[in-house]
Amino acid sequence: MLAEGRASEILELGDGRVLRRFKAGGRPDREAEVMEHARAHGFPVPRVLEVREDSLVLERVDGTTMLAELRRRPWRLAGHAHTLAELHRRLHAIPFEAERLLHLDFHPDNVLLSARGPVVIDWANARAGDPALDVAMTWVICATSGGTFGRVFTRFFLRHVDLAAARRSLPEAGEHRIADPNVTDAERDRVRKLLRRMA
Ligand SMILES: Nc1ncnc2c1ncn2[C@@H]1O[C@H](COP(=O)(O)OP(=O)(O)O)[C@@H](O)[C@H]1O
Ligand SMILES: [Mg+2]
Repeated sequence: MLAEGRASEILELGDGRVLRRFKAGGRPDREAEVMEHARAHGFPVPRVLEVREDSLVLERVDGTTMLAELRRRPWRLAGHAHTLAELHRRLHAIPFEAERLLHLDFHPDNVLLSARGPVVIDWANARAGDPALDVAMTWVICATSGGTFGRVFTRFFLRHVDLAAARRSLPEAGEHRIADPNVTDAERDRVRKLLRRMA
């Protein structure tokens, strides 16, 4: 096993491939569709090699996550926050189902820093919508699940986005996060606190 997240496990398959298996309720066909849509528009995602009933076979991306890099070289925080905001901007330029393509779990642990540049993974929550919601989701996730470091990261990230729009979407983002079954009660409390503070 390569990694185990809250909602899936990643297994090494060899030959430059990994298996992304869902613990419950994943929709591999839908996830593959949005990933291929992003890729067709030049957005950096792992290639989808195979769609199975409960899993996806993906191209293995060699690199460390932006989160691991942040921990290893914290002095590069400002640069990584800028990179993440730039990835948001690029993703949200992609039309999808009459709106824009959103990732909705777009945080430093879902960005792999590879030799060919950053590659975005974990598209389980992706759908069409208003880009401000994606930015607000990143705000909520980083500010309430990333510790002190995450709050500092959030401050830098928000320098590069449409802050007024993100703020308007913050309540909706917070509700999504609170409703996520993989989120702990302590995290939910922090989300509620953030929403009250920003109201
Ligand atoms: N295509 C890939 N290539 C290499 N490593 C990957 C790939 N996809 C996922 N991983 C590894 O597995 C971890 C969890 O993957 P992710 O898709 O974010 O699952 P989760 O839904 O569990 O968060 C990542 O942080 C990364 O280390
Ligand atoms: Mg992930």
